[in-house]
Amino acid sequence: MARFYVTTPIYYVNDAPHIGHAYTTVTADALARWHRLLGDDVFFLTGTDEHGLKVQRAAEARGLEPRAHADLTSERYREVWSSIDIDYDDFIRTTESRHYKATETLMQAAYDNGWIELRPYAGWYCVSCEAYYTESDLIEGKLCPIHRTEVEWLEEENYFFKLSEFAGRLLDWYESNPGAVTPEAKRNEAIGLVRGGLRDISISRTSITWGVPVPWDSKHVFYVWYDALINYATAIGYGEDQARFEAWWPSVHHLIGKDILRFHCVYWPALLMAAGIDPPSRIAVHGFLLVGGEKMSKTALNQISPADLLPTFGVDGFRYHFLRDQAFGPDGDFSYEGMVARYNSDLANNLGNLLARVSTVVEKKCGGIGPAPDPSSELAAVAASVLESAGSAWDRISPSEALEATWRLVRETNAALEAAEPWKADPGPEVDRVLGDALEALRIVAVLASPALTRASQEIWDRIGLAGRVADQRLPAAAAWGGYPGGLPVERGAPLFPRIAG
Ligand code: MSP
Repeated sequence: MARFYVTTPIYYVNDAPHIGHAYTTVTADALARWHRLLGDDVFFLTGTDEHGLKVQRAAEARGLEPRAHADLTSERYREVWSSIDIDYDDFIRTTESRHYKATETLMQAAYDNGWIELRPYAGWYCVSCEAYYTESDLIEGKLCPIHRTEVEWLEEENYFFKLSEFAGRLLDWYESNPGAVTPEAKRNEAIGLVRGGLRDISISRTSITWGVPVPWDSKHVFYVWYDALINYATAIGYGEDQARFEAWWPSVHHLIGKDILRFHCVYWPALLMAAGIDPPSRIAVHGFLLVGGEKMSKTALNQISPADLLPTFGVDGFRYHFLRDQAFGPDGDFSYEGMVARYNSDLANNLGNLLARVSTVVEKKCGGIGPAPDPSSELAAVAASVLESAGSAWDRISPSEALEATWRLVRETNAALEAAEPWKADPGPEVDRVLGDALEALRIVAVLASPALTRASQEIWDRIGLAGRVADQRLPAAAAWGGYPGGLPVERGAPLFPRIAG
């Protein structure tokens, strides 16, 4: 059985979940659901990143111990993920003992291999990024290039990871694994970072205690990023269950935002190599969701939370928007008006209307019993080509194209109904044929759209009289034309996607 391991970044617990975080997490969830439909053995990991100065300060600001603060915010992530049907297999918290163990094991291996050493360090530090910057990176010599807030001068003795010695190996890795970092522009960016010259990096701190202690020197804790990255190994048993780890690694799909490319595409593969582990097989980088042209952030005060949108759009409308309208890769501007327009056209007018029409006419012309499809229907070829296009789009991590392809079947089925106008015809074989085809198309759309529409897909399934769960269907068989048996009661229910006033 094929295995599919997909991860989101683990989110800092200094921030509340917003739609930028949701965008990545919904994408990972939809991919996991697609692979479950394919019958793959799926492991979908998300979680929270709980160490570091930023979290320690956020906790202090609330008058809480870091762990108590992390408990509360981590729980908020879980609640928000559950409110949008995120079905993860594991939710990792970096404060768990399994993660301490994995971090210690991996870093100890890198240390024993001679890739880590103690050196003095001083530099400009941005607490929001949890990263040091060189003078030339700074705006006006004092502002963080990402947050535009003032950086701080920090001096300490740190353990250094000898990253500079990995340039050749990293370039070989990119060369021999052209699909490892996508899209191409981001791969080139990563290669550019390596070619531009790598400095050794500081991976420990003595100035804070809120972190995973360095196993060979307990005055230090690992700098938050170097424990955080290791979460991807922890969750599949690294340091505890080697056989399990090897079953899943290195075949992993990391989904990340472009701001954390350097950590994932340069530091992480090098750190793994240093510990004698293969680099990840796939890192898919996406752009930012912009609000009013700016990245959403606490400092910019432009955050939108899923709860702001769910009452209007529902879980399906929410998920559909981020999968269909925000292409995975480039930056995308979030627009409420755009979200309403897409909901009304694809969900209310196209899919919702198809179901409403078919169930109304089946009630009127077929006594409420759905007829079987025509095996030689022209829609059969459409369904086959839609399955192929959708499958290849999900493989490329392009949910927007996968859903666009799926909606081709919705549109063609609506067009076939409009051409045949069964609502005007007398009951008989011709009406049965058109409606049977439409029911079959609805059945297939319910399966293919289920990674996005977790609720409506099941609702369609139930209303057209099918038993069981859509999520238990298996592709490609479930998308083969002719699966709707006919003779099932079709229910005419309330509108699936009530129109939203613009
Ligand atoms: N904790 C680190 C990740 C460690 S992974 C080993 C971190 N956390 S974060 O919460 O700040 O960001 C997590 C992810 O959310 C990043 O991929 C980031 O790009 C993404 N996003 C945060 N705001 C975003 C948008 N406005 N739009 C899209 N994604 C954005 O970095």
